[in-house]
This record gives sequence, structure tokens and C-alpha cells, in this order.
Amino acid sequence: PTTQGGALAAAPAQTHGARPAMSGPAAEALVAWVDEVAALTQPDRIHWVDGSRAENEALLREMVDEGKLIKLNPEWRPGSYLARSHPSDVARTEGRTFIASEDEADAGPTNNWVDPAEIRATLTPLFEGSMRGRTMYVVPFSMGAVGGPLSHIGVQVTDSAYAVASIGIMTRVGTAVLEQIAAGKPWVKTVHSVGAPLRPGQADEAWPCNDEKYIVHFPDTLEVWSFGSGYGGNAILAKKCFALRIASVIGRDEGWLAEHMLLIRVIDPAGKAFHIAAAFPSACGKTNLAMLRPTIPGWRVETLGDDIAWLRPGEDGRLWAINPEAGFFGVAPGTGESTNVTAVETLWGNTIFTNVALRPDGDVWWEGLTDDIPEELTDWQGNAWTPASGTPAAHPNSRFTVSAGQCPQIAGDWAEAVPLDAILFGGRRATNVPLVVEATDWTHGVFLGSNISSERTAAAEGTVGELRRDPFAMLPFCGYNMADYFGHWLKVGQALRFDRAPRIFQVNWFRKGQDGRFLWPGFGDNARVVEWIVRRLQGQVEAVPSPIGRLPRIDDLNLDGIEVPEADLQELFAIDRETWLQETDLTAEFYAGFEGRIPAALNAELAALRYRLTRD
Ligand code: PEP
Ligand code: NA
Ligand code: MN
Repeated sequence: PTTQGGALAAAPAQTHGARPAMSGPAAEALVAWVDEVAALTQPDRIHWVDGSRAENEALLREMVDEGKLIKLNPEWRPGSYLARSHPSDVARTEGRTFIASEDEADAGPTNNWVDPAEIRATLTPLFEGSMRGRTMYVVPFSMGAVGGPLSHIGVQVTDSAYAVASIGIMTRVGTAVLEQIAAGKPWVKTVHSVGAPLRPGQADEAWPCNDEKYIVHFPDTLEVWSFGSGYGGNAILAKKCFALRIASVIGRDEGWLAEHMLLIRVIDPAGKAFHIAAAFPSACGKTNLAMLRPTIPGWRVETLGDDIAWLRPGEDGRLWAINPEAGFFGVAPGTGESTNVTAVETLWGNTIFTNVALRPDGDVWWEGLTDDIPEELTDWQGNAWTPASGTPAAHPNSRFTVSAGQCPQIAGDWAEAVPLDAILFGGRRATNVPLVVEATDWTHGVFLGSNISSERTAAAEGTVGELRRDPFAMLPFCGYNMADYFGHWLKVGQALRFDRAPRIFQVNWFRKGQDGRFLWPGFGDNARVVEWIVRRLQGQVEAVPSPIGRLPRIDDLNLDGIEVPEADLQELFAIDRETWLQETDLTAEFYAGFEGRIPAALNAELAALRYRLTRD
């Protein structure tokens, strides 16, 4: 990657692409901000993105001509492209991701905090001239349907055409958003530069980026400044930066929640629909559950979203949800015919792939796509590859970017808000956590959410493995103090009617037996757990009280058509009081890290859990 510094030639005069016709003070404020960023970053050209198909096609063609995208064989993958990133720029960089709140305590112990004035002093020289030789794109975007009641808008300026094409898939981009800005709707400012200015005549790289990276969020002024990376989560600022980190702060102030959740509609054999949101940490199967194909007859799942949900209490006392995104930015490896056929079908065309392998016939491949491993590939770095190479052909975090509308089981009304019936929390737990537990009430559910964790390694028998904590699956995405965020969840619960609030469940598809085997088949068979949850919602089945929450009666689980040995079923729901008490000690330690800011109601939940575990 290019590093900043050295004498840069004077910037040539900027040329403005057609600036959309807008008038009034709000439009002038936008233009003034764009001019200000341009004065700092000194691009050669400014291009206001209108979101049209022709514009998108021209952009893609240009990237192919510049060697930044490989056009895939349209016979196999029409309208699709492969990008290969710089090998150092393959994932979100949590260590370089910062919350620049005025007060350090507002960022909390789980975020990297920086002083806003100090970081601006650091960023300004980095952005100075950082777009020389490049085009600065101005991308107005809406999260949620343009003008929708739960929607929010923003503008990203970026010098990455790859980012523009990706934002075009992941959000609603275009002039309709500018009209909203001109009409005075508040908007979030996001600035992105790959940090690789070009001297006149200097050849560009296929994936320009910079060794120095900063992804900085200013929650007090609702801004994001991202420098040095072209990778999805660092560069598509509408997604993790805005729709989670900044939106969580807006939600705190306005009484709603921005969550790292999938969103589905489950339809039972009688045709009755239920809406479920679920928070799982990255790489725990959110996209798989979002696109679930039930193995039980008569049940259907419609996809509404696979990564982010915004939840807001309605006048009716229910919790309403939208998927603010317009596409999927999913991990390719492990997505295949046997694990997520819906995703495979979604990717039939019009997809941007990043860091997957290329087949000799001009199609793509990645580990897990097919059971057969191709004999010959070009790997994600562009090197010849065979199964004997001993390295992954696709990068483990290789991705697909595709419109939600291409998903064959997308709900017809996926852009609308839906009322939630249930919320699921899950991690990847080899021990302790049963296949499914129902919370006794909202507060207990918030307690469960605050304790989402995954084991680093399969635990030894009779102990809890070292836990990677990821409360609400929001650890890398909460824009403010996580303890305050727990408190905000409790507050949102109070805005719901007690008999209309979604019920909360904890699920765990990953429990292992003492021999290290997974006890539950997972994937499409997770529909059996969803069925039990839906039957609980309707009061059709009883649950058994336990120290950790309400458990199913094993006879109520629909196991028709699968063989789960009785001993495995017992183990899937076993509660070992000794190891659970060890786990409460870990929870107490975790809570202690928040220096007294954990809400009293959650400390009370922990105390009550310990009491139930020690009592006969
Ligand atoms: C990302 O890395 O940009 C992203 C979407 O993150 P994840 O899939 O880990 O949630
Ligand atoms: Na990632
Ligand atoms: Mn995610």
C-alpha cells in the first residue's frame, strides 16, 4: 500500500461532476461540507452519485479497465465481479476502530476511546491531499426505505469506486435522498479515503490502501472518518459504522435500539406469521438462520435481513423492526449447497465477490461451496492453486455483496417494519448453555443478552472454557458505554406493553458432548427449535422452570425424521450447577469491568441466578 508523505505534486484543478439542482439552506450546507472535504482531500474530480443503473455500469466497467475488478464469465455468473484486496486489508480492524466521545466514560471499557480534538489533529494531516489524482464520490444514502418512519439518511464521500459500488448494493443511494436533505431531514456525515494519493502519471494499484488505518466515530457530532482501508466494514460506512455504532447512540437518545441482528418471518403450517430477530456474534450462522429452509414439513421462513435490525417501540406497545440495509455482505466460505442453499441461489448473478478463488472457467469458488474441490484454481491472491497447495483458495473472510431482492425467499414486504414476537440471543458454546432456554421476563432476557459468549476452545470436561464475551453480539459495534447500553435495553422494555413485548430466548446450536461431537444437527434442523419457540408464543406447550430459565419438555421438541440419541438430548439440556456457578463468577468478573455502571437490575439477576443454583 501507498504510504502518506513525501512531496506531492500540486493538485490539478478540480472538476465538479454535475452537481444536482438543489436549493435552500440545507442543500447549501451539504454543498459547503462537500467543498470543505474536497478542499482538505484535494481530489482531481468530484462525482455526485445519482444511483442510476447507467452510472453503476460505467463505474464497474471503469474498474475492470483499471484492473480493480475481474469480470466473471457471464455464462455462469452474469453481471458479477471479483475484487482481490491487498493481502493486508481483508477484514475489519477492531484495533484501529475508535469512539471519539467528549467524555471517555461514554465510550466505555469495551471501545477504543480517543479524544476528539486530538484525533482530529491526527486525522487532518492524513486526509490532507489524500484523494489527489483520484475521484471523490459523493454518495447520498438511506438506511431503511427512503422516507420510511424508522429510516435515517447520510452521505459518504469516498475515493473508492469499489466502496461506491458496494454502498449501491447495501443501501438505497441516489437523488431521492438529496431531496430529503434539501427538505431539512437530518443526515450523518461520513468521510472515507483509502489514503493512497496518486502523483501525476503514477500508476494505480488494484487495491489501493494505506498501512496506517483509522476508523473513527464521533458520536457527539454524528460523524465517521475512515482512513486507509478499502475493506467492507471499514469502507461501507453506512453499515457497521453508521447503522450500528452511530445509530446505537441516536437510538439511546431517541428511545430505540440499533442491533446486530438478523430478521425473519416464520410461517407455521396454519399460515400464521411470527417475526423473530436474533443476535449472534460474527461467524455464528446469522446468515444461515436468516435464510433457513426448515426441514420440518409445512413450515416456511421468509428472509427480512441478515445482519442489522433497528427496533423501535410503537404506539401499540409492540416492538417494531426494520432491516435498514438493502443487501447482504456475507462471508463466502462455509456457504454451500448443504449449509445454505438459499444464499447460493441468491448469488446467481449481479454479485461483487471479494477475495474468493477464481475457476478456470471464469466462475468463483470457495471452501464449502461444493463438496468437490476443484483441481485447479487461482487463489484469492491471484496465485495458481491446487488442493495440494495447503492454503485456503478463498480467504477465510472472503465475501459476497448482493442485493437483498435477489434472495429467493426474501419477504415480499421486506422493506417494511414488522412487529417482533421473539428475540433470540446465541453464541457458540460447547458447554453449559442448552439448545434453547426461554427468559422468564424482559429483564432476565436482557441479562441473557448481556452474557452472550463463545468458547475459545472446546472446554475440558467439567469446566467452562475461556469465554470470548460478545454482549448482544454488539461488542465491536456499540457506539457508547456498554453498561449504559444494557440500561437502555431495560428502558426500551418499559416502553413496551408487558403482554405485547417480544419474548426472549437463548439458543445454542453448538453444544458438544464429552466426546467433542456436536450434539445437535443444526442448519435446517434449527427450525425444530424455532417451532418450539413459536408454540411457546401461542401457549401450546408448557416449559419446565430451571435455575437458568425455562426449558422445553423434551417430548415437545419435534424430532420427526431425525435421529438424536436420548443421551444426547439429555446432554443438550443438562444443567450442571457446579459449572454454572463457575460461569456466574465469570459474569461477576465481566460486570466488574464496568466500574459500577452495570444496572442494578442486572446485578440482581446475577444474584438471583446464584441463589437458584445453590438452592436445592
Ligand atoms: C464486515 O466485516 O464488514 C462485516 C459485515 O462484519 P461481520 O460479518 O463480521 O458482522
Ligand atoms: Na469481519
Ligand atoms: Mn455482522
